[in-house]
Amino acid sequence: MKADLLITGISQLVTAKGRGARHGAAMRELEVVEGASLAITGGLIAWTGKSCEWAGHASETVDLEGRAVVPALIDPHTHAVWAGDRLADFDARTSGKSYEEILKAGGGIRSSIRATASATQEELVRLAAPRMARLLRSGATTIEVKSGYGFEPYAEIAMLEAIQVLRASTPARILSTLLIHIPPAHVQDRTSYIADVCNLLIPEVANKKLAVALDIFVEQEAWHVDEAEVMLHCARQHGMAIKLHSEQFQRVGGLELGIHMGALSVDHLEACVPEQFELLAASSTIATILPGVSLHLGIAAAPGRQLIDAGAAVAVGTDLNPGSSPLFSAAAALALAVRLNGLTTEEALMAGTVNAACAVGLIDAGRIEAGLEADFLVLEGRDWRELIYILGANPVREVWIHGEKVEQ
Ligand code: NIG
Ligand code: FE
Repeated sequence: MKADLLITGISQLVTAKGRGARHGAAMRELEVVEGASLAITGGLIAWTGKSCEWAGHASETVDLEGRAVVPALIDPHTHAVWAGDRLADFDARTSGKSYEEILKAGGGIRSSIRATASATQEELVRLAAPRMARLLRSGATTIEVKSGYGFEPYAEIAMLEAIQVLRASTPARILSTLLIHIPPAHVQDRTSYIADVCNLLIPEVANKKLAVALDIFVEQEAWHVDEAEVMLHCARQHGMAIKLHSEQFQRVGGLELGIHMGALSVDHLEACVPEQFELLAASSTIATILPGVSLHLGIAAAPGRQLIDAGAAVAVGTDLNPGSSPLFSAAAALALAVRLNGLTTEEALMAGTVNAACAVGLIDAGRIEAGLEADFLVLEGRDWRELIYILGANPVREVWIHGEKVEQ
């Protein structure tokens, strides 16, 4: 075999093998090859195996001198485009007010909506680009970015257009999702906004291919299940995938709606209950948990351990956003999922790679396997578990996308 590049000196080459989301105990089935090499041709993985078994010829060789290699991470849930800040909320919360009280009083998400509405596209991109760079440095080469801080339907389109421009400014692969919050002006008149979303927004977003999925924030202080169903149904009719923010503070039933409608993922789940674990286990919907929110808001952590024990497929995201999760590291999200949600290191890596890929609709990502994109991480250490063990320093030494080392 002829390859463009051979990467040798890999202490441990770690990956899942084979397509599809991993449920339950299968989340621990990683392959670890010691003393490995990895060949790349045309940006794709051409071969992997024990170094002593390489019989081909490579135009160039790189020696990692005994460092571990894992698949690049996928961050399946961010709100990385916003203007303004939420430091006043942070102070209010540290003085005893809850996230929901602040939202109800017109702060929280509504204050980000106001600040984002008054920013130009250029400002939004300038503010979001360094956030992408930080996520990328932390190991995420594929990042889902949601709109959702729109003041009216066309403001969501402007946010999605900003995400498109952002795409050109980073080597990271960005997937965009249309997220619907309730704009401040529509809190009393939700029906007319739903009509605008279904009649104007979704058709235009689908037509211009500005987003691959629709996400609805279902919560007592946000959209209710019957309202979400109307918008999700419309999105599906326009060929979009669907997702939900649900069961964050209360058991609201968005989880059942998502499963019933074939959602790619239901996200948050801090307040979900045992009978819902079984429903997830029996479905193809991914349970995306967001430990940064539990840490930052001090709310209960989603029952990651119990979800996996029940047989669900769990993914982990940063939920990077100014209000509930100012977490700029995909590796740290995995580290927190072990400490707060009870995942093992193997499960956390699976949750941040293969299952995170499925949560954003990608079936051939998150693995190091011949024929797939050569997106992987070179870690600082020789043991891959440091990716998840280390807190407060970056365990990632190099980030590779499409067979090229990202300059950072
Ligand atoms: O995932 N829709 C809710 N979303 C975010 C929070 C957004 C915000 O507080 O600005 C979440 O927690
Ligand atoms: Fe979110």
